[in-house]
Amino acid sequence: MTESKPKHILVAVAWPYASSEIHVGNITGSYLPADIFARYNRLQGNYVLMVSGSDAHGTPITVKSDALGITPEEVYKLYHAGFLELFQKLGLHYDLFTSTHTENHTTVAQSIFLALKEGGYLYTETQNQWFSESEGRFLPDRYVEGTCYICGYTQARGDQCDNCGTLLDANELIDPRSKNDGSTPLLRETEHFYLDLAKLEPAVVEFLEARQDRIRQNVLRQSLGQIKANPLRGRAITRDLDWGIPVPVEGWEGKCLYVWFEAVIGYLSAAVEWAALHDDTEAWHNWWYNPEARAYYFIGKDNIPFHAVMWPAQLHGAGEWFGKILEEKDSTQLTLPYDVPANEFLNMQDQKISGSRNWAVWGLDFLSRYQPDALRFYLTINMPETKDANWDWDDFVTRNNSQLVATWGNLVNRVLSFAHKHWEGHIPVPGDLTKADQAVLATVENGFESIGELLEAVKLRAALIAVIELASEVNKYLDETAPWTEVKTDKARAGTIIYTAMQAIDHLKTMFAPFLPFSSEELHTYLGYDQPLFGEQYTRPVSDAQGEHTTLLYRPGQASGRWAPEKLEPGKAFRKPSPLYQKLEPTVAEEERNRLG
Ligand code: MF3
Ligand code: ZN
Repeated sequence: MTESKPKHILVAVAWPYASSEIHVGNITGSYLPADIFARYNRLQGNYVLMVSGSDAHGTPITVKSDALGITPEEVYKLYHAGFLELFQKLGLHYDLFTSTHTENHTTVAQSIFLALKEGGYLYTETQNQWFSESEGRFLPDRYVEGTCYICGYTQARGDQCDNCGTLLDANELIDPRSKNDGSTPLLRETEHFYLDLAKLEPAVVEFLEARQDRIRQNVLRQSLGQIKANPLRGRAITRDLDWGIPVPVEGWEGKCLYVWFEAVIGYLSAAVEWAALHDDTEAWHNWWYNPEARAYYFIGKDNIPFHAVMWPAQLHGAGEWFGKILEEKDSTQLTLPYDVPANEFLNMQDQKISGSRNWAVWGLDFLSRYQPDALRFYLTINMPETKDANWDWDDFVTRNNSQLVATWGNLVNRVLSFAHKHWEGHIPVPGDLTKADQAVLATVENGFESIGELLEAVKLRAALIAVIELASEVNKYLDETAPWTEVKTDKARAGTIIYTAMQAIDHLKTMFAPFLPFSSEELHTYLGYDQPLFGEQYTRPVSDAQGEHTTLLYRPGQASGRWAPEKLEPGKAFRKPSPLYQKLEPTVAEEERNRLG
């Protein structure tokens, strides 16, 4: 195993808009892969900081506020509370899950803006913007729909085309229409700040080219590929809006920072807040002012341009001034993304997921009927890492029963129950290991290296498949050595076999732990350990100038350094096991399909 110094790993997770519930597509798109990767790195002994929060500003929130007849702040609080509940039930171990509606975020976002301004990367321009005469106000980009001027797609949003992925200039949309009432908006003059992306382009290209071998093709296509085809142009980063972060410049009252410009800054502001909440105000420098730190951004494919182009440009441009504005002593370049492992989409029964048509499986609803590890398992084995994937309820039931229950759960249950019965609750003391015993242990132990490499490369699906294959190897070993019959004639030999199997199961427990943390912790207890592998989540109310917020935090546990073979102590007492997973009736698929739509 390659020994290396522990690294600082920033696990930056997409900030969900606090305007709708979270469904399985969102979970597998970014939140779950982030948690798997974070847990793996914690087991490796790296210093992980996993941050995110509710994206509380922007038009999705105001649209919802109009629809529900409550304030944007109430909208954000309502959905934020649901996120915290889901993340705890699904075991998503954020070091901090906060929101963009905090005083801290306001300060940090405004400082980035001012740093870009000082650095000469902003300019103002009086521009035309779509104005709705029927509503008497400027329309945010998201409220305008039309035809993409790059690819001709007719349902392009004002800010971005979901067909070709281009960041659009809303004013150039062909056949614009208001999403509110279908009316045709008019262009009217208004002044805005622009990020000078043309000036930042060489730095962005250099950034992307340096990471070409690591960054997935889908991400490169929508960043480097796009830039080569259409050179970057300045982009407005302020809006005529009252819900958001005010533009920190005199005379600009009534205008806010554009939500995408501002939300990505959350990755930085959350780290600052995390440090303050732990009474170690400079601790965030380890991830943000450290050339050795690695920042991974877990996002869905619809977020690629903002993370692979805009955000690196913002960080590059602000680096020089940001620290000075915040009066930081070691102000320097801010850490650029190391990788942006964006996932493709998950479809539902071969159709696009649609929240509004209820063509979705909602996280909390799912967890009211099934185990969190059953969800984590299916979403990982089916993760849309390189192409769109499909949620299919029959497939869910089959994979749950044949892989999770039959291959892994039954292996654990039959070995531990048998051992508990025949060796009275103690791990058998092995005799000399045969070639076959040694071989199966070596195969499993090699997994720490080979599966570790897959996890490091963020190939999570392949990593999980590899762990299941190792579990199959142990099943094969047991079929061949047959301890269940051996025990009748040679209990000592049976004890050696069972010891070998338990040792292998203990290793597999660790390898499964990033993916299946709940059942791995349970198994860890059965195997006689008293301290959990991972730490615990807790919520904490915080109040500041923006009001009261509830944050989700994480107290680290004993994971560090455990991604390695650990010797199971012969003769030690262990606990009587119960089955780790539920077998599902085939009728479940039909019932669940009927809930859709
Ligand atoms: N709120 C956006 C979405 O749900 C994602 C924002 S990621 C951020 O698509 F970093 F920009 F916040
Ligand atoms: Zn397009």
